[in-house]
Amino acid sequence: MTERERWATRVGLVLAMAGNAVGLGNFLRFPRQVALNGGGAFMIPYFCAFILMGIPLMWLEWTMGRYGGQFGHSTTAGQFDAMWRSRWAKYIGSIGISIPLLFAVYYIYIESWTLAYSFFSITKKYFDIAEMEKMNTFLQSFQGVSQSGEFFSSIVVAIFFWLITLIINIWVIGKGISRGIERLAKIAMPLLFLFGFILVIRVLTLGTPDPRYPDRNVMNGLAYMWNPNFSRLTDFSVWLAAAGQIFFTLSIGTGTIQTYASYLRKDDDCVLTGLSTSATNEFVEVVLGGSIAIPISVAFFGITTTQLIASQGSFDLGFVAMPIILQKLPLGFFFGAMWFILLFFAGITSSVALTSPLMALLGEKFGIPRVRAAKIVGLILFVLGLPVIFFLKHGYMDQYDFWIGTILLALLAMCETLVFVFAFSRTRISGSRLKNRLLGYLKFGLDAGWEEMNRGADIKIPRIFYYILKYFVPLFLIILFCGWFWQDLRSETSVILMKGIDSQQGLFRWAARLTITGVILGVGFLVKLAWRKRK
Ligand code: ALA
Repeated sequence: MTERERWATRVGLVLAMAGNAVGLGNFLRFPRQVALNGGGAFMIPYFCAFILMGIPLMWLEWTMGRYGGQFGHSTTAGQFDAMWRSRWAKYIGSIGISIPLLFAVYYIYIESWTLAYSFFSITKKYFDIAEMEKMNTFLQSFQGVSQSGEFFSSIVVAIFFWLITLIINIWVIGKGISRGIERLAKIAMPLLFLFGFILVIRVLTLGTPDPRYPDRNVMNGLAYMWNPNFSRLTDFSVWLAAAGQIFFTLSIGTGTIQTYASYLRKDDDCVLTGLSTSATNEFVEVVLGGSIAIPISVAFFGITTTQLIASQGSFDLGFVAMPIILQKLPLGFFFGAMWFILLFFAGITSSVALTSPLMALLGEKFGIPRVRAAKIVGLILFVLGLPVIFFLKHGYMDQYDFWIGTILLALLAMCETLVFVFAFSRTRISGSRLKNRLLGYLKFGLDAGWEEMNRGADIKIPRIFYYILKYFVPLFLIILFCGWFWQDLRSETSVILMKGIDSQQGLFRWAARLTITGVILGVGFLVKLAWRKRK
């Protein structure tokens, strides 16, 4: 057997894990969520979700990954199998390979827009567009959504940047863990911090850009973003939004943290390092992500327009409002490029993580050499990516984002918690009758997991987290999962029921759902083959 890959340095591991978490969500999704869900008051459910769910689940995923790694399992399929003696374990765990793969399909496409816009900033392609509507047409023309041909005659430019982004991703993962992903993180993350700081300082020193509108200034921007509106806290949907943001931003439930953690050694610390990477992500999200897009938008457009932009979507803020604003600054092309390169670095350090579970399955269980495995992953992403690009205007990508970026993340998190908390310790629980199991669970449940988590730890986890993990997290995840369904089903724009969608549009959405189901089943089948091969 060949030697398992390992992280070369602890700094590299922290940066790679932080890079996995820090992504487009920190700079585009977070400010919008805050602005829409009660400003500063949103931080209450947000930090509750972070402490009560984000941190314990982060430790759980690190521990699960490190434990599985000892048996040569880098994916949740093998890790579930090692922890839970059931023939279903590996199949349920296989969603930890299909979810990140499907996530990568649309994430890499969005990431490629940031690369394209960096180029458009340097070449000043979008300069002179001063109205939101026109900048929106620019974006839609680039995406092939609007076919007016005003700015781009076809979607070829978007495809070109997508292919480059895909190739860069494949190149990095083809180099492996320490020589590819870790090196990328060591370069991209410090630059991301540097660019983030420069942009924050630029925004905070803007003052009142147009003296004709004294209300439009940075302080009002910060106030708009952070002034708490406590009345929103009674709204259940605000709590769901906060939990959803924590999942998305920490990459919890994507199966990627487990894969990264599987390259740890048996006694490497999970607790302090897991906590440091979470804290790094929160710093980037709250301090950097919270001080750029929304405050600058208020300074230039005022509160009412910013509200409108935020309600329209994450892309309106990042790809429509920001290009208009940044070009108005002295050295606008420079700051524009910096904003989009920052987004690109944030994106790529997450997307390489999203491809890593499938890479691990191909290498570990099918013995496919790394470079060839990377090419196979690239080909799969290419084939699955084409409909995302061509059917964007038909809501194909929205289906991916809803099912993968919201529902399935919570499903995987729920499954892994149940396995870790209920099944992992079963060897210690005598008898097989339900009553014995329940009594056994109350007595021993989680003990094996807790012991495993604390092994090699550089700090002691407060005992309260034992109870949080055992009772609160499973319950909360079930409520969250059902809450999202309930919220969507009741909404006027229900994604599940496709409300307000005509039958032709519905067809594309069904196609997206079928593809997602097909990939999940396909990966499940691969896992079956892999285990048969092992025997
Ligand atoms: N955690 C990644 C992000 O925030 C997926 O974008």
